[in-house]
Amino acid sequence: MSIETTDHALTDRPEWKALEEHLVQIMDRDLKRLFSEDDQRGPRFTVEGAGIFLDYSKNRITDRTVSLLLDLARACDLEGRRERMFTGEKINITEDRAVLHTALRAPRDAVVEVDGVNVIPHVHEVLDRMGAFATGIRSGEWKGHTGKRIRNVVNIGIGGSDLGPVMAYEALKPFSDRSMCFRFVSNVDSNDFYEKTRDLSPEETLFIISSKTFTTLETMTNAHTAREWSLEGLGGDESAVAKHFVAVSTNKEAVESFGIDSKNMFGFWDWVGGRYSMDSAIGLSTMLSVGPDGFADLLAGFHEMDVHFRTAPLESNVPVMLGLVGLWNRNFLGCDTVAVLPYDNELLRFSAYLQQLEMESNGKHVTLGGERVGWDTCPVIWGEPGTNGQHAFYQMIHQGTKPVPCDFICFCEAANPIGDHHDKLVSNVFAQAEALAFGKTEAQVKAEGVADQLLPHKEFDGNRMSNVIMTQKLDPRTLGRLVALYEHKVFTQGTIWNINSFDQWGVELGKVLAKNIIPQLSQSEAVTDHDSSTNQLINRYRQHRHG
Ligand code: F6P
Repeated sequence: MSIETTDHALTDRPEWKALEEHLVQIMDRDLKRLFSEDDQRGPRFTVEGAGIFLDYSKNRITDRTVSLLLDLARACDLEGRRERMFTGEKINITEDRAVLHTALRAPRDAVVEVDGVNVIPHVHEVLDRMGAFATGIRSGEWKGHTGKRIRNVVNIGIGGSDLGPVMAYEALKPFSDRSMCFRFVSNVDSNDFYEKTRDLSPEETLFIISSKTFTTLETMTNAHTAREWSLEGLGGDESAVAKHFVAVSTNKEAVESFGIDSKNMFGFWDWVGGRYSMDSAIGLSTMLSVGPDGFADLLAGFHEMDVHFRTAPLESNVPVMLGLVGLWNRNFLGCDTVAVLPYDNELLRFSAYLQQLEMESNGKHVTLGGERVGWDTCPVIWGEPGTNGQHAFYQMIHQGTKPVPCDFICFCEAANPIGDHHDKLVSNVFAQAEALAFGKTEAQVKAEGVADQLLPHKEFDGNRMSNVIMTQKLDPRTLGRLVALYEHKVFTQGTIWNINSFDQWGVELGKVLAKNIIPQLSQSEAVTDHDSSTNQLINRYRQHRHG
């Protein structure tokens, strides 16, 4: 394994120090003042690329902030590292792997080599097989064991093998085959499997077992339960598995030993991280729902954003600017969280998807060289579709004690337009961003005739930062562009924070401990080998697990 040793303490860099000094100089210039000083501020702090328009003017920045952030990005060799990712260098140094999700959406004639082998023909071979399979299922040509067509598709997977597929299914519902039913089982909680299958007929149900490693406890437990459920409903004939189970994995051996023939397996590669895999074969359920052409559009959207990220100058690069402004808010203005607020109900799982993408990628406390970081890394990512969030947690965003930077995402056109719903929806985006930035002074509240004792309660400080991301319409292509936007934002920030955005060692310890605890829960004698709290909890559960 080649561990990079070129560690620079980020906070010792002159570009970082310049930003710290600059912060002191602009601290007292709030957004109201910044806008009043420059009537072109809105149009100037805007970037556009791959069909995505980003207005980042309502952040507490000036031209100088942007220029210093760009200096920092260049000093951290963002451009060089970006090229090293795109060309297949093994930048995931703790796992000695290339990071090539961008190859998954590259055109057929592209050349991207890993260890001297062009991976693009392999990518397209899998896409072609997925396409043929999806067409067979969608047309009814592929029949279940008893000769009935497949109407239900159940994806079993967790983390990156679930969040992308379920998010994309919800987002692209208007483009899906409505005669089919899609379900997603992820949790090892038996309720999840039970509730998602209780009304399905095994004769018409296909399971996609999605797991990069094919060893994940939750997925393998659910996969075995699915196998039993299916065989029970199909008369116990083992040969039924071939018609009702397919696998998506990098682990052919484990797939075969589960009993799925490798001709019913769709592969991907170790250079695709789980949270970067919704555009690999992990997207099989997406392809089944929107069809091969819809999936091709999704990939085309991803690729457009890849090209933009790779070629646009940093200052006019949408993911780079989103990343830099986020870094400013995180490291210099001390914001601990970011709210992602899509004003589109179909994006109801988008924030959950981004939680894994951002927090599993950049929630790291050591640098590439293994030193403790001396700066904050990933903030907490959270959110809900608007306008629902407005009636739940926006109170805190407007009047809480700490600013919460918000990404508002909106679309010019509704997927299913009805009357004036869409104008009402989108007006709320603009109003929320405006209210956060400019607030309402005590004098304004007083002028409305509000009683003196209520003034502090009804006043809004303003000076709260937000981005507005606007694009035409939520369709497969746009979804690809949006996801790639955030993937490259993560890359931008991870590069500057000098961390490995592509491993996830932090999830291991809990998994190992759970494996040790599983047999202890059903043992007859008291458990004593943990700390007194854990022993107590295990033993209490042991005593009460049968009611
Ligand atoms: O939670 C850790 C993790 O490894 C994720 O990175 C991954 O997306 C998920 O588990 C599922 O892994 P697999 O696809 O191998 O089942």
